[in-house]
Amino acid sequence: MFTLRVLTLLLLLLLLALSARLPRSAADPGDELCLTRLSESLQDPGSRLSNWSKAAFAEPCNGFTSSLSGATCNNGRIYKLSLSGLGLRGSIPANLANCTSLQALDLSANALTGPIPPDLQGLVNLAVLNLSSNRLSGQIPLQLALCAYLNVIDLHSNLLSGPIPQQLGLLVRLSAFDVSNNRLEGQIPGSLSNRTGNLPRFNASSFEGNKGLYGYPLAPMKTKGLSVLAIVGIGLGSGLASLVLSFTGVCIWLRVTERKMSMEEVSGTFWIFR
Ligand SMILES: *[C@@H]1O[C@H](CO)[C@@H](O)[C@H](O)[C@H]1NC(C)=O
Ligand SMILES: *[C@@H]1O[C@H](CO)[C@@H](O)[C@H](O)[C@H]1NC(C)=O
Ligand SMILES: *[C@@H]1O[C@H](CO)[C@@H](O)[C@H](O)[C@H]1NC(C)=O
Ligand SMILES: *[C@@H]1O[C@H](CO)[C@@H](O)[C@H](O)[C@H]1NC(C)=O
Ligand SMILES: *[C@@H]1O[C@H](CO)[C@@H](O)[C@H](O)[C@H]1NC(C)=O
Repeated sequence: MFTLRVLTLLLLLLLLALSARLPRSAADPGDELCLTRLSESLQDPGSRLSNWSKAAFAEPCNGFTSSLSGATCNNGRIYKLSLSGLGLRGSIPANLANCTSLQALDLSANALTGPIPPDLQGLVNLAVLNLSSNRLSGQIPLQLALCAYLNVIDLHSNLLSGPIPQQLGLLVRLSAFDVSNNRLEGQIPGSLSNRTGNLPRFNASSFEGNKGLYGYPLAPMKTKGLSVLAIVGIGLGSGLASLVLSFTGVCIWLRVTERKMSMEEVSGTFWIFR
């Protein structure tokens, strides 16, 4: 009788402890950190994210819906962030990677500056990355190749520089890729431009508007890129030309003196015969 009472009491206590934990376990500390850092590093001159409050970051999801504008949830985790065309400024924080359930990140058509953080490799579920039409600079991080589920990478119309990382070609699910209108340079990796069957994997429209990019499906290396060779060529050419010129000069001089000498010889012979 006594043991049964103790057991019931223990069971009740356990249930109480569990129910007290329930609302807490709904908020993910990673999501909270991610949203906090994101709102700290974004400037929102149009007050389009006015309901992004600190209180909401601790509890951003209610099942599948979010109280934060632009956010979508799935099973209590941030699953999608669509903050396109809101006039946002500032930069992309490394801690965005703490939203580890994120599948779609769209920060396109804002005025974001700074680099694309390599830390985004932590977004292991990311399928869609759209950072197009901002003022992002620096190189495209090769670490993006570690987000194995990526099927959309849209980085067009930014100020990105350097080469296109070869590793991005390893993303087997990649079906949309656009880096047009940046400041990229170097050869387009064959892994991204290669023909699959009769068609190139991504056509020229994915790459155009980058002065320094070359190779299929764009034109081969521009002659401008051969400037060092051209300088050497001009140097060698002019050297050769002056050599030829002086050689001809010497030849003419020799001919003239030879002719003079033979004329003198001829007149000398006349003298002898006279
Ligand atoms: C945030 O991400 C970093 C890097 O992956 C990790 O070390 C840290 O523990 C994460 N923090 C939280 C609160 O999830
Ligand atoms: C925040 O704004 C969104 C869209 O404007 C709205 O759906 C949501 O209910 C708002 N959340 C709060 C807490 O006001
Ligand atoms: C990325 O966003 C822009 C505008 O916000 C849109 O026009 C474009 O279609 C998007 N890219 C992809 C691949 O969906
Ligand atoms: C296609 O890509 C593979 C590896 O990325 C490379 O070995 C091969 O030469 C490429 N083929 C063409 C036609 O570019
Ligand atoms: C290039 O590919 C895109 C989609 O991937 C397509 O809409 C466009 O028509 C293609 N352009 C050319 C010239 O083939």
